[in-house]
Amino acid sequence: MEIRKVISNKTDFMDILLVGDEDEAMINKYLGSSKLFALYDNNILTSICAVMEIDAETVEIKNLATYPEYQNKGYASKLLDYVCNRYKEKFRTVILGTGENDTTLNFYKKRGFVQTRRIKNFFTDNYSHPIVENGKQLVDMIYLIKSLT
Ligand SMILES: CC(C)(COP(=O)(O)OP(=O)(O)OC[C@H]1O[C@@H](n2cnc3c(N)ncnc32)[C@H](O)[C@@H]1OP(=O)(O)O)[C@@H](O)C(=O)NCCC(=O)NCCS
Repeated sequence: MEIRKVISNKTDFMDILLVGDEDEAMINKYLGSSKLFALYDNNILTSICAVMEIDAETVEIKNLATYPEYQNKGYASKLLDYVCNRYKEKFRTVILGTGENDTTLNFYKKRGFVQTRRIKNFFTDNYSHPIVENGKQLVDMIYLIKSLT
């Protein structure tokens, strides 16, 4: 297993980024100013993580995704661990926003994130089409936070 920092041609990873965030226009808003980390197993791309430095203390995970056929094998957990370890020297906190989807929220809560604020109507206001996960339309964005110290 190998994690590579993507240096150029970030848009080559659009396919897998769309697994985590269905809207290409939204991805393009953060891709340029995010660092991308790609996880490969036997040289096969399985997972991606986009990380943006928000301020001197905080980084935000803008996208974390695993191709459906490789999910539930521990890849995203490995990538999340790697990102938290990589940033903990210089930053104090990692935040991320996600839809109100119990599976996703539990994934992060099990890994030390706690729920903070809710942005009302984020998905209905900002996305060009309804985003449905687990049969439920996403409306609000839920922010989660984890201390890196
Ligand atoms: C959320 C998401 C990133 C998780 O990716 P993943 O690679 O499947 O994550 P992991 O395999 O590390 O963890 C998933 C589960 O598999 C379990 N797992 C870990 N190693 C495993 C293994 N070797 N075999 C089987 N299951 C394993 C984990 O314990 C975890 O369950 P838990 O949360 O109850 O502990 C992925 O489901 C995804 O891309 N979803 C779609 C996009 C999305 O909704 N993203 C979130 C918003 S950005």
